Amino acid sequence: MLHTECTMRFDILTLFPDIFPGYLGESLLKRAIQSGLVDVRLHNIRDWSKGKHNTVDDRPFGGGPGMVMKVDAVVECVEAVRGQAPDPGHLIMLTPQGRRLDQPKVERLAEQKRIILLCGRYEGFDERIRLILEPDEVSIGDYVLGGGEVAAMVTIDAVARLLPGFLGDEDSSEYDSFSGSRRWLDCAQYTRPREYRGHETPEVLLSGNHEEIARWREENSRQRTQRRRSDLLAEE
Ligand code: ADE
Repeated sequence: MLHTECTMRFDILTLFPDIFPGYLGESLLKRAIQSGLVDVRLHNIRDWSKGKHNTVDDRPFGGGPGMVMKVDAVVECVEAVRGQAPDPGHLIMLTPQGRRLDQPKVERLAEQKRIILLCGRYEGFDERIRLILEPDEVSIGDYVLGGGEVAAMVTIDAVARLLPGFLGDEDSSEYDSFSGSRRWLDCAQYTRPREYRGHETPEVLLSGNHEEIARWREENSRQRTQRRRSDLLAEE
């Protein structure tokens, strides 16, 4: 399959940019960055804060626990970063209050040329950040993280692997769980040795009969989905 590869740019806005290089510097993401398929830029929100103390958070009006991310530093950081490229990009705010990330959403994001990921810390964002920037609010699940950084990494990881040329084998994401129109779980996989501690590889997978193998895999996927995630079958 021939693809015209072009770069997808991610801008990460965070108070903790040092969290990212380790993750981005390994494995397939490292290779994608080195080859120019993916471009990741890190921006420290603190660089846009005002005053001699570089404060980016403050106590909430009305009282209560925790600190709130300040509107000026965040809005000005987003605006400055947006202006660094002709495409203003698709702005995502990582927050447990967002729409939950799933594979159809990841597939839509993979069509973008540029994604800006805004990571929050503390108790949340000043509401005017939402009102002014109108970000696409994304949650990676119904639990609360210490900040949006891990959620941003999850988003980049899931999106980047759909880009043509990212995976070694062009077709390998097509058969993932949740991809394509059939959103079933993957079937069981085996590799050498054929037998380990009494656990045999199913004979059909060694038979060389591609039709039978395909039938076995389909049935295995359906059964797994039924047992583990019957909600996915109900959605069909
Ligand atoms: N920030 C804190 N918790 C989060 C979540 N579940 N998803 C995205 N961003 C978050």
